[in-house]
Amino acid sequence: MGYSKEIYKATKAKMEERRTNAERKADRIREEVYRRVPQIEQLEKQISSCGILAVRAVLNGGDVKSATQDLKSKSLAMQNEVKKLLVQNGYDENCFEPQYSCKFCKDTGYVEKDGRTVYCNCFKRLLVATACEELNRTAPLRLSTFDSFNLDYYSHQVDKESGVSPYDKMQKIYNFCVQYAKTFTTNSKSILMRGGTGLGKTHLSLAIANEVTRRGFGVIYVSAPMLMSTLSNMHFSKDSSDSEYFDMLAKCDLLIIDDLGTEFPNQFSTTQFYNLCNSRMLLNKPFIINTNLSINELEKTYTARFVSRIYGEGIRLNFVGDDIRLRKSL
Ligand SMILES: Nc1ncnc2c1ncn2[C@@H]1O[C@H](COP(=O)(O)OP(=O)(O)O)[C@@H](O)[C@H]1O
Ligand SMILES: [Mg+2]
Ligand SMILES: [Zn+2]
Repeated sequence: MGYSKEIYKATKAKMEERRTNAERKADRIREEVYRRVPQIEQLEKQISSCGILAVRAVLNGGDVKSATQDLKSKSLAMQNEVKKLLVQNGYDENCFEPQYSCKFCKDTGYVEKDGRTVYCNCFKRLLVATACEELNRTAPLRLSTFDSFNLDYYSHQVDKESGVSPYDKMQKIYNFCVQYAKTFTTNSKSILMRGGTGLGKTHLSLAIANEVTRRGFGVIYVSAPMLMSTLSNMHFSKDSSDSEYFDMLAKCDLLIIDDLGTEFPNQFSTTQFYNLCNSRMLLNKPFIINTNLSINELEKTYTARFVSRIYGEGIRLNFVGDDIRLRKSL
């Protein structure tokens, strides 16, 4: 999928930061080792002078082969000596080599494939994460975490109809969400969160978004009104970044649509919304959809067939309790 130049630029900058960080860290370790074990510095100097001597031997002519062979084995012996000394002093024998986060491209972002230079998979993953980060800049992601979710807001009073307390029900939902985020993969199931206002649907879906993003997946969080107005504006503009945005919504690893049912859809945005959901379902890509509405109410806006499809595919979580926003303000 296509991304804007800015996204590529930001991703390349992050990649370069990864690489220089790894290299700087290796340099710092080298400096420390030289300070603590001066013998190693001496050996390293001699090793690099072996290279210069080898060049000189070639320039001077004579028995180049045996001269370089000799230097090579000397250099190897010294390298082994360095490794031995490093281990003796409590270092890893490869500690002078930068520890790149990707062993395939050494944090350059590029690899050779069939004689061509192509983007490494780690670069593509970072690209998606960067693009999602950009889109989520306005989402209230930071404050809603699993840690700040408090089960004490839910009553222990057993509900007569269901035989369980809101506390027990919400504890199950909470545990499910934690587990979902921890084990999220691109083939995870969708989730449908339903229940009244102020029961923690947004909070828990943002907590999932935080954790799944932290694990390196591309997550987009969007409220249904915002989504519909964006989809409907696409109709009128010829901006190519629109199709890019649509593509991201369709292809990101996890799409969270909050407050479905509070939007005012028009014919065009509804069609676009169907297209979006259909392409995600075809690709087997998960959603999290939150709503205050009942299934019947949702069917008034969207077709029964569509509602049953999205409800049929996902895991349903029914939130219960009293409005926490009100309780918090008491
Ligand atoms: N269990 C909880 N512990 C702590 N804060 C919560 C909890 N549930 C909801 N909140 C907070 O209460 C407010 C309303 O919750 P929210 O997730 O927006 O509810 P909903 O999306 O179900 O309407 C938010 O500020 C949210 O952070
Ligand atoms: Mg909400
Ligand atoms: Zn890589």
